[in-house]
Amino acid sequence: MSIDTLPEMMNALIVPAPGAPLELRRIPTPSPGPGEVLVRVAASPINPSDLLMMRGDYGQKRPFPFVPGLEGSGRVVASGGGFLGRSIKGKLVACAPERDGLWQEYAVVSAKRCVPLPSTISAGPGAMSFVNPLTAIAFVEEAARAGRRSAVSTAAGGALGRMIRARGKEKGVTIINVVRRSEQAATLREEGVQHVLATDMDNFDAALGERCAQLDCRLAFDAVGGEMTSRLAEALRPDGEILIYGGLSDEKPAIDPATIIFKGLSVRGFWLTQWSAEKSFLRQVMLTREIHAALQGGFAETRVAQVVPLIEGASAPRLYAENMSLGKVLISTDTEELGLADVPTGPTKTSKDLLFSAAAAA
Ligand SMILES: NC(=O)c1ccc[n+]([C@@H]2O[C@H](COP(=O)([O-])OP(=O)(O)OC[C@H]3O[C@@H](n4cnc5c(N)ncnc54)[C@H](OP(=O)(O)O)[C@@H]3O)[C@@H](O)[C@H]2O)c1
Repeated sequence: MSIDTLPEMMNALIVPAPGAPLELRRIPTPSPGPGEVLVRVAASPINPSDLLMMRGDYGQKRPFPFVPGLEGSGRVVASGGGFLGRSIKGKLVACAPERDGLWQEYAVVSAKRCVPLPSTISAGPGAMSFVNPLTAIAFVEEAARAGRRSAVSTAAGGALGRMIRARGKEKGVTIINVVRRSEQAATLREEGVQHVLATDMDNFDAALGERCAQLDCRLAFDAVGGEMTSRLAEALRPDGEILIYGGLSDEKPAIDPATIIFKGLSVRGFWLTQWSAEKSFLRQVMLTREIHAALQGGFAETRVAQVVPLIEGASAPRLYAENMSLGKVLISTDTEELGLADVPTGPTKTSKDLLFSAAAAA
């Protein structure tokens, strides 16, 4: 496809102001500049970071109005010049744009932020190959660096929680999985997961303390914040560390200073953007290879609850937030590229029947 044959106008989901609902608008199809490519977007998941960005609360600020969608996949249909852009023209890529996001039909992305997908990986799993797989790798590396053989993981029923557990298993780090509802705990146990605790249990704090003692656990990965962080602080063994990487509760972590002082507790933040920026080009290539191998049947497999066509995408964030543990909601303009069998598309409903594994279906 040449730039001349592209439509002049396209559909895009736009967030007009902080916290405002998404709007479907017709906007001009953008043109790539030097070093950039134009991607015909196939799919982009809704991640919690997208919801934060739409509220104006994410670490990277984008001026409103903007198109969200921090990661995804699509086919490179035009290059704005440069060796890299020309070399990936026509290829299916995973991408993570720096400016406008991927909840639109066509997106301009720096060629440097596009990774060609091998022929064995379709656009569905490929769309989720950056944010969570890299974070899971990073966390298990953190555990190894600190010499820890166990760690507590909160929000353990979500996509990243699943990856942390699977990556931990691969590398010999036992995960104590914390979820917020007993039904989620039961689901995980049915899947054969050990060490699952739900915060709605009467004896949660005692049970978490016991597991930490049993496994000599001194490390926690916390995506929840608020009261959860203080409960982790109380349960961890002395000289423990809490890595805060999310604030799903929308509440500030409150930890008793006595716990920090007398147990020698450390608390620090983790942000993938910063972690990735510190990696050399060679390391990034190695990480990409490892993730591509793990997208199909490995630790980076992601469940998809629903594929929502772009033109119906304005309601997709609400649908996703209703039951995040069900699986990712993918916004898609091109279901043919997804390579997913029996993709549940169309007007949305949430049901366990919709659960399926993207990678397994590819
Ligand atoms: N710092 C970084 O660099 C970085 C990188 C990647 C991910 N993250 C963070 O990692 C977290 C998980 O991401 P994900 O992709 O795995 O999301 P996800 O697949 O949507 O899963 C989110 C999970 O969190 C649970 N949850 C939501 N609100 C909660 C609350 N108030 N208390 C306890 N649990 C709650 C959900 O349970 P329900 O089903 O009950 O809603 C669900 O199991 C997010 O906070 C995200 O921002 C951070």
